Amino acid sequence: MAMYNKKTIEDVAVEGKRVLVRCDFNVPQKDGKITSDKRIVEALPTIRYLKDHGAKVILCSHMGKPKGEVNPKYSLCAVAARLTELLGMPVPLCADICGPDAKAKVAAMKNGDVILLENTRFDKREEKNDPEFAKELASLADLYVNDAFGAAHRAHASTAGVAAYLPSVCGYLIQKEISVMGKALADPTRPFVAILGGAKVSDKLNVIENLLSKVDTLIIGGGMAYTFLAAKGYGVGTSLLDKEKIDYCKDMMAKAEKNGVKLLLPVDTTVADAFPDPIDAPIEVSYVDSENIPADKMGLDIGPKTAKLFSDAIMQAKTVVWNGPMGVFENPTLAKGTIAVAQALAASSAITIVGGGDSAAACEQLGFADKLTHISTGGGASLEFLEGRELPGIACLADR
Ligand code: 3PG
Repeated sequence: MAMYNKKTIEDVAVEGKRVLVRCDFNVPQKDGKITSDKRIVEALPTIRYLKDHGAKVILCSHMGKPKGEVNPKYSLCAVAARLTELLGMPVPLCADICGPDAKAKVAAMKNGDVILLENTRFDKREEKNDPEFAKELASLADLYVNDAFGAAHRAHASTAGVAAYLPSVCGYLIQKEISVMGKALADPTRPFVAILGGAKVSDKLNVIENLLSKVDTLIIGGGMAYTFLAAKGYGVGTSLLDKEKIDYCKDMMAKAEKNGVKLLLPVDTTVADAFPDPIDAPIEVSYVDSENIPADKMGLDIGPKTAKLFSDAIMQAKTVVWNGPMGVFENPTLAKGTIAVAQALAASSAITIVGGGDSAAACEQLGFADKLTHISTGGGASLEFLEGRELPGIACLADR
């Protein structure tokens, strides 16, 4: 398990310095409008600290997957506009990443100014972690601050490579993410309950294994639960099944028993004739016990008895980590299991941590965000953190 004790922006002098700050401004957008600005808002403490302490703040981020091509669809212009509103000062967007416009804008900066470079993935060298590109980025600045927790699992030029050429520290967001999740994993207040969901067992293999050596109770729901039910010898109808992972699930059940971990699987399930199409279409469902899923039915959410079972386990916990929805939560009829879990977390007095992605979106949509201890800004990054993997965007920063 990677334990980090990294220098932060408070450990270095920033006044008058040009500071390159890597943020994760990869925010969801619809028709050019930002639909959740959580990642921008979460970056503000670092940006404010730097500007208030007289730094020249040069922000950068990726957006989407433009595959190394300049593509206006993936421009950071809506992000620059939102930053301008949130900071109450102009945040100009450069026309390039570290080309002539960025260089000219940086040269004209005064202490306390904030600018944003264009999408780092507009250059194909970014995702290759090309040292020349990292050097070009570094040449804009005197200090590198990584605050892009959501991209910290990527070893790209702007998330990791640049640290080879500048003194490098973390911002407040990365510090918060690693301290809350790191403490939960390394020294949890017990009972420690983890809830995993989402479609595929194969996406969570290492998380399941890592958590089984740390938690008191592991709850498995979502599409991945059907492979566990199959491993118990149950028929799962036409539900999602990762046949190749049945043996893995058997091993994990044995490991849970050996470690004295209570492994909770769905005792009932919400079934329908087929997957909803479109995903939010009205759907007729029924509830069956997990050992009686009819051969022609598809499980699409946990059932009501399971929602109660899981909620009761959550209510007894002192630390809860949740990653992955319990069913097809994009469909109101199939969102009930995910909502029940979110409600239990919101009602609990435990340390509650939601590991990014869909479960974070669900908590926010339900308005529970302020009732939870921590909602990670990382999807893939929080998963890799829960796996106990080293995150290249954090490993590259200076140790305390
Ligand atoms: C995310 O949205 O999880 C991060 O911004 C990383 O994006 P990526 O999966 O495109 O690297």
